[in-house]
Amino acid sequence: MARLALGCALLCALVAGPCAAESRLHASGSPAAAAAARAPAPAGYTFIGDLLSWQPTASGIAARCAPGVGLRLTFLAPDLLRVTLARPEAREPLLEYPIARREWPALDVSVREEGERLVLDAGELRVALDRAPCRLTMIGRDGRVLAEDDPAMPIGWDGNEVRTWKRIEPADRFFGLGEKTGPLDKRGRQWVLWNSDNYAYTPDQDPLYQSIPFFIGLRGDAAFGVYLNNSARTTFNFGAGNHRYWSMAAERGPLDYFFFAGPGIPEIVDRYTELTGRPMMPPLWSLGYQQSRWSYFPDDEVLRLARTFREKRIPADVIYLDIHYMDGYRVFTWDPERFPRPEAMLDSLEELGFRVVTIVDPGVKADTTSGYDLAREGLEGGYFVRYPDGTPYIGSVWPGPSYFPDFSLPDARRWWGDHLVALREQGVDGIWNDMNEPAVWGKAFGLEALMGEGNEVFSQRRMHNLYGFLMAETAFEALRRGRPDERPFNLTRAGFAGEQRFTAVWTGDNVASWEHLQLGIRMLLGLGLSGVPFVGTDVGGFVGTPTPELYARWMQVGAFSPLFRSHTAANTPDQEPWSFGEQVEEIAREAIELRYRLLPYLYSLFHEAHTTGAPILRPLFWHYQDDPAAYAPENQHEFLVGSGLLVAPVVAEGATLRSLYLPEGRWLDLATGRVHDGGQRIVVEAPLDRIPMFLREGGILPLGPVAQHTGALARGPLTLEVFPAAPGAPNPEPAGFDLYEDDGISYDFEQGAYRVTRFRAIRDGAGAIHLARRVVHDEFAVEPREIVWRVHGVAEQPDAVLVDGAEARGAGAGWEFDPERRLVTLRLREAGAARAVVIR
Ligand code: GLC
Repeated sequence: MARLALGCALLCALVAGPCAAESRLHASGSPAAAAAARAPAPAGYTFIGDLLSWQPTASGIAARCAPGVGLRLTFLAPDLLRVTLARPEAREPLLEYPIARREWPALDVSVREEGERLVLDAGELRVALDRAPCRLTMIGRDGRVLAEDDPAMPIGWDGNEVRTWKRIEPADRFFGLGEKTGPLDKRGRQWVLWNSDNYAYTPDQDPLYQSIPFFIGLRGDAAFGVYLNNSARTTFNFGAGNHRYWSMAAERGPLDYFFFAGPGIPEIVDRYTELTGRPMMPPLWSLGYQQSRWSYFPDDEVLRLARTFREKRIPADVIYLDIHYMDGYRVFTWDPERFPRPEAMLDSLEELGFRVVTIVDPGVKADTTSGYDLAREGLEGGYFVRYPDGTPYIGSVWPGPSYFPDFSLPDARRWWGDHLVALREQGVDGIWNDMNEPAVWGKAFGLEALMGEGNEVFSQRRMHNLYGFLMAETAFEALRRGRPDERPFNLTRAGFAGEQRFTAVWTGDNVASWEHLQLGIRMLLGLGLSGVPFVGTDVGGFVGTPTPELYARWMQVGAFSPLFRSHTAANTPDQEPWSFGEQVEEIAREAIELRYRLLPYLYSLFHEAHTTGAPILRPLFWHYQDDPAAYAPENQHEFLVGSGLLVAPVVAEGATLRSLYLPEGRWLDLATGRVHDGGQRIVVEAPLDRIPMFLREGGILPLGPVAQHTGALARGPLTLEVFPAAPGAPNPEPAGFDLYEDDGISYDFEQGAYRVTRFRAIRDGAGAIHLARRVVHDEFAVEPREIVWRVHGVAEQPDAVLVDGAEARGAGAGWEFDPERRLVTLRLREAGAARAVVIR
């Protein structure tokens, strides 16, 4: 097989004479294609036509199919291909905002002719381009076809709309597309991406607030990924209403998509977040419990809320202020009666260990007469979205008629950011970007309204889905500018692919129902598969009122949600942990305490997300891609937290038993100490105060102490729940756990100021258990602490425990054995860079 340049020379010589600027490869299809291109617009699709010519490019080829129709195939990595169609009618520039990595090294891509097709090979992925018609087939490492254009309808356009159709097979599955309702597998439906405000959405409503045109396809045991880089209204048909194809379409703009070869799902999300940006590393405090409602006011009420948490000893880190803190919903104001001295209130909250996050809506009250400067500043600066005639667009939201900042303008971003910095300086800690679809009463933000400047002025047809993304990015940049040394906390309702770089996401105005508790789990899993790990639902439900039981079960799910925030609508009854009676108060406290104990684990997973894009909450198939049961709809409400912990929360009313599926391997029930074989469905007891949790064989779960808030969190004692792996036990990941620690707030970790401690536990052939601790990155000082190893699954009283070779003797010398729970507990002071323990 010849390499690219040679391949071209050979082909040119063979087929069409010497290589010119364009190599004429196959001319027979061209007259028809040319005629088609000249013909009056047909009532229907025009298809791409036959290959006329091609030429090599840095890491691929540029092909011509029909006059004026270009198809560019570029490998960015051996497993990542970019496909870009250019056609005369659509000259919009390619979308750049979502793309974080623009430069990729040139690759050694071979091009060869195989019969009637050209084949480009980058190692992990091959793409074949058929000549008649121009048609793509993506082929994985082992020769398997991952995706192939429909033979007759490969790529086509009808007016502004452009679409590609690919053959579907009966067992193909589809996951992702970000924040979507319905089952985890999106097969059999058509999904639309158009950011929409949907109060009390239904469990199958579409579209919602976010647009992430990225999905993972699964064919047999091989997965592939597709990111459609277009912010117009896009449509994904995964075999809805037909048995022939899956398709994706953009209402306008270029067909520009990235194809990821997989075949592992984690590899796809890793590459996808390399392309669109790694998830931000959040400040530790934002992983604590967060309390919200629409709205807590006045200031006394907010302080009373904060004190109640502390008095009741229910841990919490964050209180939210919803729209009533503002003066008549004017953004960047405080209501002078409800909050006469905001700084003083914020100081008092800080003393109580609370952070405050305020809502910020984009709608700027169209009020230039009352001494409110914002509208005037925006008008003078030309910062607002405008009609084509230049007059500012006005739509109604909370403040009444409002202007909308154009967050694509650098000056507008700076101006808005200055106001956010001022809010930050007053003592507000994080920003909650809401209503940024953008939402207006009447649900129809003017499509003709323009954003941008110079040569880059676009209507909402291109900008609408980007509005929330740009607003959240503006907030993140401003928070960083205000305090360069602190990681910002930023939350958004609307967004687009790539938002994971700078914001957390919550799933909007859900409903206090069991169906929504289940839906919420699926939506969080779907977002995580789409590169957005920092996600949460309104715990308890936003619209309506949860029963005490529902609230308790939702808090238990919340304890594992990357964003753990309770929120409820205006005029609903109280929805605090103590609002549902004593029993549920205790259950809520336990769930929140568990959350704080899990922080060493979750924080390490956030760092993993930050480096690889891996979600915190993972569907079973993330680690068990080959297990058909991992995809079964009845198993889609259990999830893995990281690789080692499986959680099967109760999500059905009245249930006190939980039937669940355990993937292959052995699993330790953390409530009972019982060991279950995987690869089967089991039933466990799950009374209202229990969350069924299982530790994978070989897994180590680090747990910290409980604290009332992260500011009061000690790093020790560190408890390790350990389930040592038997030799040869199946392991999706290396056994054990790498604990990541840093200062929790600054960016020093980017310069290496963090610590990674590797904990391992294995059982040898003779039955001895070997525990090891080794500091593998040591640039962040952690005070020596007590480490409590809780080693499960030990059948008999051990003969001896050796610590670094020396025998530790009996009770009092640091270890004990509980025959009933088959548990050895060993307490050791953390010292030195490494430690080895043998339990014989
Ligand atoms: C929107 C938000 C909700 C908020 C309300 C009032 O509905 O989604 O969370 O409480 O507006 O600001």
